[in-house]
Amino acid sequence: MASSPFRFELLHSDTGCDARRGRLHTPHGTVELPTFMPVGTLGTVKGVDIARLRETGAQIVLGNTYHLALRPGANVVAELGGLHVFMGWQGPILTDSGGFQVFSLAERVKVTEKGVSFRSHIDGSALEITPERSIAIQEELGSDFAMAFDHVVALPNKREVIEDATWRSVRWAERCLEAAQREDQMLLGIVQGGLDPELRQSCAKALVSLDFRGYAIGGLSVGEPPEEMYSTLEATVPALPTERPRYLMGVGRPEDLVESMARGVDMFDCVMPTRNGRNALAFTDQGTVRLRNSQHERNRDPLEANCPCPACQHSRGYLRHLFQAKEMLGPILTSIHNITYYQRLMAEARQAIEADSFSEFRRAKLAAWGAKDS
Ligand code: GUN
Ligand code: ZN
Repeated sequence: MASSPFRFELLHSDTGCDARRGRLHTPHGTVELPTFMPVGTLGTVKGVDIARLRETGAQIVLGNTYHLALRPGANVVAELGGLHVFMGWQGPILTDSGGFQVFSLAERVKVTEKGVSFRSHIDGSALEITPERSIAIQEELGSDFAMAFDHVVALPNKREVIEDATWRSVRWAERCLEAAQREDQMLLGIVQGGLDPELRQSCAKALVSLDFRGYAIGGLSVGEPPEEMYSTLEATVPALPTERPRYLMGVGRPEDLVESMARGVDMFDCVMPTRNGRNALAFTDQGTVRLRNSQHERNRDPLEANCPCPACQHSRGYLRHLFQAKEMLGPILTSIHNITYYQRLMAEARQAIEADSFSEFRRAKLAAWGAKDS
């Protein structure tokens, strides 16, 4: 077999904190790390066409096994050329395994050692996802990165429930590795363990002994206070190998990205820029802007003076008007602005790490965001 098309390069570690500047080579191009992946659950980043998505600076997008398996079906996507061709995105794609979505969305969920049976949240039909099935679906979709199928429980929860789900996730991760066949897809293991540092560390250790090419940290940003997420990261990241990429799943707010990068995380995904954008909440360097607020009615300024995005060709007053009038361009433009904002933040973070100034960058960003909410 030829050498793997995947390679993780660690370019530089910031001297003032644990932030890292890296690069991830894939069959669909190179990703500069740290990176933020916009969420394209159903083969679309909601409201954003591919040309605009590229213009935001996004390098890699996320798709969801659970949703695409239900609709239109992984076999349909495969027949139409795989997820890259289907959605028209020729850059790298990461698919989540369905582990998280089945537990948050499906009905009548039953977990056994074999896998999870449930009823579809769309039409109530009975379905089953096992680790092997999740891998088969992700291979049909043809994503560059696949995620292990994990058992995610809500927090807070009883210690034995968290422990049971954590070790089941490790056993399932091993089955995922055994099931994975595609050389052009890289499988990442997912560390679980709730907020318990020791359980996190033993889970990380068990996954590392299975030798994944990359590691994700899951089960966070599920309602716990941010400080607890950060301390859990501090317990988990050092248990992961330096020479493999680290991905914090489903996180988060701009301040969470900055705090997590400072603790050594390389990859993120979150619905926040798009979901909030659809809901008239915009991110800026001065904090969040609620576009429905009447204070913006006659405001001639763009969301951000130096933002190159199409939303920032307009005034805040115009954007507010679009939301008040329920015009679909409002959610579209604000989603594009927010993704652009996240991508610019990550580009600035990468530069700061290269200059060994991430700690100053972090201080300055947090101070500016803390300023106010308008
Ligand atoms: N997305 C956000 N958190 C998680 C997680 O813990 N597991 C999976 N599979 N996806 C996630
Ligand atoms: Zn903008």
